[in-house]
Amino acid sequence: MEEIRVFCPATIANISCGFDVLGLALDAVGDEMVVRKCKENTIKITKLEGQDLPKQTLQNVAGVAGLALLEKADYKGGFEIEIYKKIKAGSGIGSSAASSAGAVWAMNQLLGKPFATIDLVKFAMEGERLASGVAHADNVAPALFGGFTLVRSYSPLDIIRIDAPTALFATVIHPQIEIKTSDSRKILKTKISLEDGIKQWGNVGGLIAGLYTNDYDLIGRSLIDHIVEPIRSILIPGFDEVKANANAAGALGCGISGSGPSIFALSKGKETAEKVAISMDSVYQNIGISHDIHISKINVEGIKILA
Ligand code: HSE
Repeated sequence: MEEIRVFCPATIANISCGFDVLGLALDAVGDEMVVRKCKENTIKITKLEGQDLPKQTLQNVAGVAGLALLEKADYKGGFEIEIYKKIKAGSGIGSSAASSAGAVWAMNQLLGKPFATIDLVKFAMEGERLASGVAHADNVAPALFGGFTLVRSYSPLDIIRIDAPTALFATVIHPQIEIKTSDSRKILKTKISLEDGIKQWGNVGGLIAGLYTNDYDLIGRSLIDHIVEPIRSILIPGFDEVKANANAAGALGCGISGSGPSIFALSKGKETAEKVAISMDSVYQNIGISHDIHISKINVEGIKILA
């Protein structure tokens, strides 16, 4: 195989209680990429449509992630990459992760899959390092593994993939303001109290248990963030109202998607997810902020080949 076209899903990181460790992959929104082999032993971004992002290899997350793979691959050639962005940069649904993960996943396919998925996560994390200054894995891991992922440990990297209960749907609203992950990380405190820690890891455990046992109520009870949301939510206009509306419309829970400004809610069933979308939409209609809304089931495959 010389060339491959792939779908690279958007992702929701943190999922309220799991800052930097939990994430899930979406189905209804994602980028497309075409990756092809070339003779020269380097990575070239030959096309980039949909967003105003740098095409120079060392300034592009797909370029940097691709170089990390190339360095470890037993391959004398290189790759050309075309990126068709559908996920807006700075939206909080893993735009940089989709490009980083998509590039290395496609390259691995073209090379006959010499690398395991965990290796691909490590390469893709280099793209995240370029994008936000921190090589966090909570977007690239669900993009590559599909479903939900838990980063149990960063050193050594240990990632657990968790199946999603089948009736779980995500609603994501993206108010059209840009928040850079690097900026929204700078405002966070670097120390937390034991009291907050106890509440937070109780919820992480509860969420994981709820996913394994298909206990939707437990999932909902666990979607609480005592640490990051109280600080970051001040950057998102209308956040408290969106959350109150989503919960009133029947969502299991609602919180900031990744570093924002997107806000996500999880619901049992598509019908409820649609009602939640309407309730969220009304807030930004009233405030007068333009926005996108996505309703999606959980993407259990992650990145996939397009015909
Ligand atoms: N865990 C990261 C953060 C995700 O919240 O900064 C960024 O998408």
